[in-house]
Amino acid sequence: MNKAIVVGSINMDIVAFVKDHPKVGETIFGREVKYFPGGKGANQAVSCKRLGCETLMVGRLGDDAFGEQLLAFQRQEGIDVGGVRRLPNTATGSAFITVAESSANSIVVIPGANAQWDESFLDDLPIEAGDIVLTQFEIPDRVIEQTFTKAKACGAMTILNPTPVHPVSPLLRDSTDLLVVNEIELAALSGMAIDAESDENIYAGASTLLQHGFSTIVVTLGEKGVRLFNADRQHRIDARTVQAVDSTAAGDTFIGSLTAGLLSGLDLPEAAKLANIAASISVTRAGAASSIPTLVEVEKLRAAYSR
Ligand code: RIB
Repeated sequence: MNKAIVVGSINMDIVAFVKDHPKVGETIFGREVKYFPGGKGANQAVSCKRLGCETLMVGRLGDDAFGEQLLAFQRQEGIDVGGVRRLPNTATGSAFITVAESSANSIVVIPGANAQWDESFLDDLPIEAGDIVLTQFEIPDRVIEQTFTKAKACGAMTILNPTPVHPVSPLLRDSTDLLVVNEIELAALSGMAIDAESDENIYAGASTLLQHGFSTIVVTLGEKGVRLFNADRQHRIDARTVQAVDSTAAGDTFIGSLTAGLLSGLDLPEAAKLANIAASISVTRAGAASSIPTLVEVEKLRAAYSR
């Protein structure tokens, strides 16, 4: 079976659980603080692996205690860490997250080692035809572009999750097979105001991205579900209703599970349904990687869902 290769960020998440997010200039008390393994790249790798596919992580850690803990966590998950390097005199990436009682979060990322890549990472990419290569925007654009250029030359599929969002270069757009965005990223990349409540509006935003040259677009809308678009068709998947406690890494769970589904032979709509279920489970639990379900958990609900 082919593998998932995640080239991306690895962070330690420092999470404050609060009633409501503080306003600018306001000081508030929180309920508790917790440390969780995170980083969009690492979360997506955990999701790929827990959903059953062979997974290689390519990332950068510092030589500090966080780096030690995060590497040990990935090994324990069974992720191939052959592409993870620890950099001397460098801090591991961290994320400062507040999670409100509504389950909504806000995140500040300090990149640390995630911003420090030399060309050696290209030697850590044993990409084969049929593999799926994933990246996000928490590492330098240059690294993402070189990764996708190599992935396409090797016959792999590429999935881009452009978050935290900024414009996508033509080179990256043309080497992206699947673009996965939420409504904020859809608005930023299409230049349109997006209302997640309006299917017409989502369709208009996705059509703009198709006109810009993206080939297939997946829009994740949280409690409004998921929409798939390419030149020939669109597909709607409704969300499961759940009691959400923490939305952190729901998008990462979705993308990793989507990848695992595609690698197992599902078509895009079926893989997206599987990923939608996985993400719906993740929001019922606290933390990033810690909230990601296993294949057994997802399959149990999938069977009930398709009855
Ligand atoms: O997508 C959630 C992730 O974003 C967190 O784990 C945090 O580290 C940031 O990268």
